[in-house]
Order: sequence, then structure tokens, then C-alpha cells
Amino acid sequence: MRIFLLVSIFFSLSWSVYLSNKSCKECHKDIYNEYQRSYHSKGYFNDILHRQIADKISNKKYDCAVCHMPAAQNLKALVKGTERPSSSNIRQTDAISCFLCHEIAYVKKAHKYNHIILTKQTEGYKPSLYGELKNPDENDKHSSLNNPLYKDNVCTGCHAHKRNKNDLLIFKAMSDKQTSKECIKCHMPYIPGGNENMNKRARTKHRSHFFYGVHNDEMRKKSVDLELNLSKKKHLIITLKNKMTHPLIIQSAREMYLRVLVKRDGKIIWSNKKDKNSYFKYDYLKGKKEVVIPYEATSYKWFNNLGAKKSKVYDYFIEDLKKGDTITASFYIIIAKKECLDDIGLSSSGLDKPLLAKKIIKIVK
Ligand code: HEC
Ligand code: HEC
Ligand code: HEC
Ligand code: HEC
Ligand code: HEC
Repeated sequence: MRIFLLVSIFFSLSWSVYLSNKSCKECHKDIYNEYQRSYHSKGYFNDILHRQIADKISNKKYDCAVCHMPAAQNLKALVKGTERPSSSNIRQTDAISCFLCHEIAYVKKAHKYNHIILTKQTEGYKPSLYGELKNPDENDKHSSLNNPLYKDNVCTGCHAHKRNKNDLLIFKAMSDKQTSKECIKCHMPYIPGGNENMNKRARTKHRSHFFYGVHNDEMRKKSVDLELNLSKKKHLIITLKNKMTHPLIIQSAREMYLRVLVKRDGKIIWSNKKDKNSYFKYDYLKGKKEVVIPYEATSYKWFNNLGAKKSKVYDYFIEDLKKGDTITASFYIIIAKKECLDDIGLSSSGLDKPLLAKKIIKIVK
């Protein structure tokens, strides 16, 4: 009942006002600067990987807009392909726009992907933005509203799951029971400083808007835990634990793997195979043909992922192990698979360089 009421109150989108990302800078300079460095400020116009994939898929339709350009006024036309993205349109260059994200009133669950329902702004009044501040200070650009549902829903519109046009699930990051509160805890920790330039309420912290993720060195270190144990019978037992509340791989361009090396006098004497067990990635088929971009795929050829908070145990037998040998176990993340980069003409972009997430070293006693 409560949900029904909310839906009817917030039902339609209103585009009478739009405040650009840049306009927030006047009063929220720190948050603006954080946001500008975040991947939420990236999209069709400033992320080469995104653009090459989108253009490869279609030079007419841009249906990525629903999540990557959600503030566009002509969203339907972009999705249908009757209009193209325009670099002179602020609502389109704003990518995951500040204003839009703070207007999310409710998220409607759906099979293909969830739908964001924005708050209805009243014509002639300052727009209202949602947040969690107690006793927010007044300003002449917007009013501030505390919506208890905001923090439950804010991330689930775009980050929950996505099916392609052939009904193939190409990512599922959240179960229906999970809310955005947990995402905010890890991805928007409190950092020092007020949230607004004047800071009349003398606040000492605000939610980080860097939205650090896979592209950030420190964040990658927090993704997994590695544990290494050596049994007397020369078995190397390695436990890989996904510490996140989502699967290791969300974006299907990614590839991740566990690399184990045993060195003696600086030389590698043993390494684990690049087998299906230690590699995490998604391979797709369209009919019987292998494809790299999931957009057209009809099935998986093969996939390997590690679910939220799940662990995997590796048992390697190393016959020749001796006292003094150095064992290293490392976990690497690749932003975009080589096959994918070759397919979209980005072979020399360096995006397939393995980035270290975690490394542990043990010397055999
Ligand atoms: C249902 C929402 C949704 C749709 C539709 C969507 N994406 Fe995404 N996309 C996301 C989310 C959420 C992320 C961030 C998650 C992640 O990186 O795992 C993302 C990440 C990406 C990235 C990774 C960028 C990087 O390196 O960090 C690329 C590239 C991308 N999308 C391309 C596209 C293209 C091209 C389309 C249209 C064909 C598209 N997406 C449609 C939600 C969507
Ligand atoms: C992806 C969604 C998203 C985007 C984009 C976004 N925010 Fe936020 N913002 C949040 C969430 C979630 C919170 C914290 C939860 C809450 O306040 O209820 C927050 C908090 C805030 C706050 C309250 C300050 C505090 O003490 O935490 C301000 C002010 C704010 N954002 C301004 C901005 C500005 C300015 C931009 C763009 C430059 C922006 N936001 C972009 C989601 C977003
Ligand atoms: C003219 C100055 C000004 C501009 C421009 C401005 N804000 Fe604010 N905003 C404020 C002030 C002042 C507060 C209250 C700060 C406090 O109490 O600590 C605030 C609070 C907020 C909050 C917290 C709301 C709550 O209830 O917790 C959000 C979210 C927010 N602003 C987002 C934005 C976004 C997004 C933009 C750009 C589209 C923007 N603001 C532009 C002055 C401004
Ligand atoms: C309107 C859709 C939308 C909403 C709402 C949204 N995101 Fe995103 N998010 C995206 C897209 C699209 C990307 C990928 C952008 C790109 O790289 O092109 C992304 C990327 C990210 C990344 C990856 C950053 C990186 O470095 O790889 C993180 C982390 C993230 N979002 C967290 C959040 C959190 C937390 C929330 C809720 C507070 C949220 N997002 C709300 C669409 C959204
Ligand atoms: C326990 C902390 C934690 C929680 C909770 C969490 N994440 Fe993450 N997330 C991480 C870490 C660490 C990374 C970076 C490492 C990686 O990408 O493998 C990450 C990466 C991401 C990425 C980038 C993935 C990619 O390949 O582009 C997105 C998007 C994301 N998280 C969204 C979310 C959303 C949405 C939620 C809420 C369901 C959430 N996260 C909850 C820790 C967390």
C-alpha cells in the first residue's frame, strides 16, 4: 500500500527544470570535484571504451542512454534511434547527472532492467533534492528533502541487473533483497570536510562522491582476500575470498585471475596453469558463433564468476617444493579483455594490462 501511494505521487517525470552538474559547483565545490573524477561523470563523450562499444553495436540506436545518459530529455528518441547523442546538450554530457541521482524517488523492479522513477517537481517552485542531512541549511537553488526510501533505492535502478535483447542475463550484481544502503557504505564512505562551501551548519564530514571502484588502486586491494597454507604433503592450499556484496565480475568486459608462482634463487620453478578454475570471465555465443560483445549474444559459451562473499579453495600439489622457496599468490584484474579491445579497434589502449588487486608472499620453512 505504502509503495502504491508513493508510485502514484511520484508517477511522472517532470522536465520543467534541470540543474546541470556544473551549476552545483557554485556551492558544492568539493563534491563537484570528487564527482568529476568519478566514473559517474563518464559516458559516451568522455569514455573511449564506452563509445567504441556503443558505436560498434549501432550507429543509429543508443539504448545505453537509460543508464549512461539518464538525464537526457530525448531518452526515448535516443533509444529508438530517431535522434543521436549530441555533445552540445548538457543533459547528455552530464552522464550520471548529480541532479538526476538526487531526484530518484523510487525504483520499479523489472525483468530486463529496473526503471528509475523521479520525483515530480512542482512548476514554479525550487526543485527538491533528496538526501540524509539533518536540518539542512536553506539555499535559493533547491530545497532539500529527507526521503527515507532514497537510500534504499538510489543505486538499484542501474546497478541491479541487465538482460540483452535476446533475454540473456549479461549482468546481475544484486539480489532483489539487497538495498543501496550497503553500496553506499563501501562506495561512498564519509570523508572530512563540509558538503557545501559556506558550511553554515559547521559539518565536519560528507559522503565521498569519488565512487571509487575497479579503476582505483586502493579499492581493488579491498576486493578479495587471499590465504595461503602449506600442508606437510606438499599441497599448497590457497583460499580466494570475494569480500564484496556483489560478484567479482559485473561488467562483462572484465577478466580476473589468480597467479601462483614458486621461485627458487630468483627463477620460477612452478606456476599454476591458466586454467578454467583460476580464470574469471564471460565468453558469449550468438547462435554457434563466438562474439565478444554481449549485446547480440544468445548464450554463454563459458563463464566463471565468484558470487558475493563467496570463497574458492585451490589445492595445488608441488612435488619439488624445498625449504627457502618463495611462493607468491596474486590476484589480477583486467579492465577490458584483449578480444574485446581487438574487436572494437582499441588494441593499443593498454586497457588489457593486468592490474594487481592482491598479493601475498610466503617462504617455505
Ligand atoms: C541497465 C543499465 C545499463 C545499460 C542499459 C547499459 N549499461 Fe553499461 N554499465 C552499467 C553499469 C551499472 C555499469 C557499471 C558497472 C560495472 O562497471 O560493472 C556499466 C559499465 C559499463 C562499461 C564499463 C566502463 C568502465 O570501464 O568502467 C562500459 C564500457 C559500458 N557499460 C558500456 C555500455 C554500452 C555500450 C551500453 C549500450 C549498448 C550499455 N553499457 C548499457 C549499466 C548499464
Ligand atoms: C550516483 C548517484 C549520485 C550522484 C551522481 C551524486 N550524488 Fe550526491 N549523494 C548521493 C548519495 C547516495 C548520498 C548520500 C546519502 C544521502 O544523502 O541520503 C549523497 C549525498 C550528497 C550530499 C549530502 C552531503 C553529505 O553530507 O553527505 C550532497 C550535498 C550531494 N550529495 C551533492 C551532490 C552533487 C553536487 C553532485 C554532483 C556534483 C552529486 N551529489 C552527485 C548520490 C549521488
Ligand atoms: C546556491 C547554492 C547551492 C547550489 C547551487 C546547490 N546547492 Fe545543494 N545545498 C546547498 C545548501 C546550502 C545545502 C545544505 C547544506 C547543509 O545543510 O549542510 C545543500 C544541500 C544539498 C543536498 C542535501 C539534501 C539533504 O536533504 O540531505 C543535496 C543532495 C544537494 N544539495 C544537491 C545539490 C545538487 C545536485 C546541486 C546541483 C544540481 C546543488 N545541490 C546545487 C546549496 C546549494
Ligand atoms: C542512473 C544510473 C546509475 C545510478 C543511479 C548509479 N549508478 Fe553507478 N554507475 C552507472 C554507470 C552507467 C556506471 C559506469 C560508468 C562508466 O564507466 O561509463 C557506473 C559506475 C559505478 C561504479 C564504478 C566505478 C569504477 O571506478 O569502476 C561504482 C562503484 C558505482 N557506479 C557505484 C554506484 C553507487 C554506490 C550508486 C548509488 C549511490 C550508483 N552507482 C548509482 C550508473 C548508475
Ligand atoms: C564490502 C564493500 C562493498 C560493498 C558492500 C559493495 N561494493 Fe562494489 N566494489 C567493492 C570493491 C572493493 C570494488 C573494487 C574491486 C572490483 O571491482 O573488483 C567494487 C567494485 C564495484 C563496481 C565496479 C565493478 C567493475 O568491474 O566495474 C561497481 C559498479 C560496484 N562495485 C557497485 C556496487 C553496488 C551497486 C553495490 C551495492 C549492491 C556495491 N558495489 C556494494 C566493494 C563493495
